[in-house]
Amino acid sequence: KVKDKTIEDVKPTIEVKNGLTYVNGILIVNKTYSVPNDYNPGSLTTETKNAFDEMQKAAEKDNIKLWITSGFRSYSLQTSLYNNYVLKDGKEKADTYSARPGYSEHQTGFALDVSRLDIGLTEYFENTYEFEYLINNAHKYGFILRYPKGKENITGYSYEPWHFRFVGKEIATFIYNNNLTLEEYIYQYVELN
Ligand code: DAL
Ligand code: ZN
Repeated sequence: KVKDKTIEDVKPTIEVKNGLTYVNGILIVNKTYSVPNDYNPGSLTTETKNAFDEMQKAAEKDNIKLWITSGFRSYSLQTSLYNNYVLKDGKEKADTYSARPGYSEHQTGFALDVSRLDIGLTEYFENTYEFEYLINNAHKYGFILRYPKGKENITGYSYEPWHFRFVGKEIATFIYNNNLTLEEYIYQYVELN
């Protein structure tokens, strides 16, 4: 059961296990909470991969092909990506669209970028049937759109129609129905013990 609390009502329980931060029981990686440099699950977590495979199969029945463009990313891969973005666009701009090393959800194995091969990770992806499928169905498989449009000041990142985070069906459905970000959910809507 989920209660509607305002941020002032809630004293979140923040737990750190093996260097991962759980806010009210949910793993959170954002501009505040990072992952240890040597944290390396090596791939998407099994439940994330299984949930994606299930969604991909279901989508295929509707002639929708979903491709993982980027799944698990190690600390060192995120380091080279971020450094290249900084060289290209400068730090200030890079920070609006790329996580710094240790601050990417991709390092947890719970996040994946989904797109179409011919489009890649551009905002144009939101005009596709593939995106339409994801936006209407991803929550049924446990995924949330992690960096929605209009919530940039909450997530800290610009809109990414391709970046999905596995949180499980129940939480994903709640977040979807209430049009939330993960940040809003963990602080305002989880049940307090
Ligand atoms: N583009 C997302 C924020 C990342 O780098 O993890
Ligand atoms: Zn991503």
